Amino acid sequence: MIRIAILASGSGTNAQRLVEHFQGDGAAQIALVGCDQPHAGAVQRAWTLGVPTYLFGGLDLRNGSVQRELQAQRIDLVVLAGFMRLIPAPFVRAFPRRIINIHPALLPKYGGKGMYGHHVHRAVIAAGEKESGITIHYVNERYDEGEHLLQVKCAVLPNDTPDTLAERIHKLEHLHYPGVVESVISAIGL
Ligand code: GAR
Repeated sequence: MIRIAILASGSGTNAQRLVEHFQGDGAAQIALVGCDQPHAGAVQRAWTLGVPTYLFGGLDLRNGSVQRELQAQRIDLVVLAGFMRLIPAPFVRAFPRRIINIHPALLPKYGGKGMYGHHVHRAVIAAGEKESGITIHYVNERYDEGEHLLQVKCAVLPNDTPDTLAERIHKLEHLHYPGVVESVISAIGL
């Protein structure tokens, strides 16, 4: 059984979608939802879904505790779902091509430190972009720069607000993320 750890910082709708997708799957399971924000919706959702949670702070991530915990729990694949912190280089090296992220824009545009959630949608609208979308990619030691697995576009409408654009992007994320996680599992032959 492939053991997946989801790391999340926010509302957790993608985490929930992934948990539901893999529930009852004979080959892969969401072993835990890790979160750096104890009051995040992601923690509530994991509790409701009966998935173990693992709470940690920024220091735990930087000093290697999170990486060691995931190794101790025999995690095969790490899936970032609205996780806002940088994954340290030793952590990336410990999980080669086994950490993936979803970003709510068409990278390399609108990526990098501080570009997450609504900040991204605000910037896209402010720049007058006609299209945005999602990027699912491997994680390396720099924000939003790893090799792409999938990009899907959507329109930015003239009267869009960050909220309406976020809703359109979330729908795309929920539609595509589980399938990409499945393809990564097959690609690494777990
Ligand atoms: C998602 O839109 C995800 O792409 C984005 O945060 C949102 C989390 O939503 N991630 C980033 O911005 C990472 N840089 P969720 O908590 O409802 O899944």
